[in-house]
Amino acid sequence: MSELPKTSFTRKDLLGTRELSCEEITHILDTAESFRDISRREIKKVPTLRGRTVINLFFEPSTRTRTSFEIAAKRLSADTINVSAQTSSVTKGETLLDTARSLEAMSPDLIVIRHSSAGAAHQLARTVRAGVINAGDGAHEHPTQALLDALTIRERKGRIADLKVAIIGDVLHSRVARSNIHLLTKLGAHVALAGPGTMLPEAFGSLVKENLRVEKSIDAAVENADVLMILRVQRERQTNAFLPSLREYAVHYGLRLEHLKRAAPDAIVMHPGPINRGVEISSELADGASSLILDQVANGLAVRMAVLYLLTGGTHLAAIDGSATTVSAKKDSEKEVHSGA
Ligand code: CP
Repeated sequence: MSELPKTSFTRKDLLGTRELSCEEITHILDTAESFRDISRREIKKVPTLRGRTVINLFFEPSTRTRTSFEIAAKRLSADTINVSAQTSSVTKGETLLDTARSLEAMSPDLIVIRHSSAGAAHQLARTVRAGVINAGDGAHEHPTQALLDALTIRERKGRIADLKVAIIGDVLHSRVARSNIHLLTKLGAHVALAGPGTMLPEAFGSLVKENLRVEKSIDAAVENADVLMILRVQRERQTNAFLPSLREYAVHYGLRLEHLKRAAPDAIVMHPGPINRGVEISSELADGASSLILDQVANGLAVRMAVLYLLTGGTHLAAIDGSATTVSAKKDSEKEVHSGA
């Protein structure tokens, strides 16, 4: 593990990218880079969060985010507990806040929550002493997704500032789009949005003050773009008939090789997953040489390790070598160095 960044991170919770400063975002990304090495070792475990407890509270289905948080916590030696809505007392009528209070009584250090209601993570953060990480709240925010996207872009392009990013598809229902719009425009990327009119209200153009525009066509948005970020059609959040049929969506708004050809010569293709092959993205694009979809998943692990570490009070302590000597994260800023994984 390379040297950890020296600045500190003082937040109790990570609820969105809207409230993060450029310095905080860069600090998380730099810390994530330091953690990337752990997953490349033969023994993928360090004692950094030994004695800490992380509860994953998922009220919506998830493959990438839940697994990634669980593996991240385990690689840092935290104790992890997974609670899903289907197997919890929520099915007996318990409210989110009563569930949270019961979990709080068991003294967890962090609660990771995914919920279908926008604002659920904020409500939880106001209720419990533990740090809260928003793993996606309705169509509102998904901050660790935007952070892992930024890490992936930075890794491939060397920077975020001045890049042209096209975000295409079901923007209206996408927490990934919102979190990315806040994060990428803050870091100086120029973001263009495109999608069906029913899924991209004009008002989105004023979500942030600078570096954001709404384009009328996909062709206009992808022209010379450095990054094509494709969004899943979120049928589970659509209460009205936002599209006539998936086949028509694929014909008019599905991203194909012809769109990539209009982009910058070394453009990259991204999608947060899960992908609907042949709907919002063709297989040739999803599996092609420009696709970074699986790099995004890999970087998600490093970002979540960084977030778990920083929210439990992790600070720079020492230059770290590859021999599993690592730092301990302590809320009270006491500093300690552990040797051996
Ligand atoms: N990108 C993402 O949030 O995927 P999951 O729904 O599988 O967690």
